[in-house]
Amino acid sequence: MYRTKIAGIGMYVPEKEVSNEWLTQYMDTTNEWIVERTGIETRRYADKHKETTSTLGAKAALKAIDDAGISKEDIDFIIFATLSPDYYFPGCGVLLQRELGITHGEAGALDIRNQCSGFLYGLSVADQFIKSGMYKNILLVGAEMHSMGLDFSTEGRNVSVIFGDGAGAVILQPTENENEGILTTKLHSDGTHAEELAMINPGSHGGYHLHEVDFGFPDEDLPGEIFVTQHMLDAGMMYPNMNGQLVFKNAVVKFPEVIMEALIEVGASPSDIDMLIPHQANLRISQFVQRKLGLRDDQVFNNIQKYGNTTAASVPIALCEALKEGKIKSGDLVCLAVFGSGFTWGSALIRW
Ligand code: ACO
Repeated sequence: MYRTKIAGIGMYVPEKEVSNEWLTQYMDTTNEWIVERTGIETRRYADKHKETTSTLGAKAALKAIDDAGISKEDIDFIIFATLSPDYYFPGCGVLLQRELGITHGEAGALDIRNQCSGFLYGLSVADQFIKSGMYKNILLVGAEMHSMGLDFSTEGRNVSVIFGDGAGAVILQPTENENEGILTTKLHSDGTHAEELAMINPGSHGGYHLHEVDFGFPDEDLPGEIFVTQHMLDAGMMYPNMNGQLVFKNAVVKFPEVIMEALIEVGASPSDIDMLIPHQANLRISQFVQRKLGLRDDQVFNNIQKYGNTTAASVPIALCEALKEGKIKSGDLVCLAVFGSGFTWGSALIRW
């Protein structure tokens, strides 16, 4: 049986840097409020006329392919994680494939919808495919273009100040070296609070989960008229919503829990972690997790200050920067951990 190793990594963030100050022209907020509550100082926004989630992903993918020393044609499977896809369907996997020009039909493309946990869910799926010997070069991408779908009015400020655009990608390959690769992945979910961090429109729900909310659906049962209503557009119901405090309370419990679960399985403890890459949800969440596990500053990597929360892209972007900055070396125990909408959460331990 093989192990799975990260053979190449790449990231791409759009050129346009957006400061907290810039946001104040659209909404009632301040640089101080954002920095104090989230740690975020700037984020990047893509050019909506020239870039899409899949093109951001393709740029990161090309760097990962180059880093792995393979050619695009070697890729035998694609996994794309995002919550901000180019289209409702088809998913970004095939669009990325087209963008890369590898439309020979030999590589399958799978789309993952697990929001902030998407990259880790993708990593776990890829790990199973590689270990079983099914694929040899899997391209896993996490990419987001949040800036196209945020409410920049004061009403949407608790959500819109947090998110940024970007992409990260890895190439996963089999290795027979027992001293490297993915040691374990842990995945969890609980749909109890599904609507507390969500973008529910447009969707097929027809009001089913939220009876008391007026979505403007017609009383008569007319097929095809309920997907998007004028009322939803007029009332600004097409944006993501977040119960920040509930997310915070759950995240600070689940992050340490799922990290400990992975550590216990491999017979390790928090002090054995050389680098923890937490999903960059909020700097305060990462700091809370660090304290709870008793980790030193040099055992945790954060870059949310520069990029905001890039959801499915945040872990590969942070991992890529930690590597570039020489903070991870061969033989290190690297822990990835995520929590997000669903709620979904997970962790991975990798011997580098
Ligand atoms: N600027 C200024 N004031 C704001 C802003 C803003 N951007 N956003 C909210 N406020 C106001 C609110 O309106 C409220 O005002 P009020 O008291 O007059 O009603 C006040 O600040 C406090 O609002 P809360 O929502 O209670 O603010 P809180 O202290 O909880 O901070 C935050 C909000 C930062 C979102 C926090 O709840 C949090 O960090 N939650 C975790 C959520 C998170 O990290 N999500 C990331 C995405 S999900 C993921 O990746 C896991």
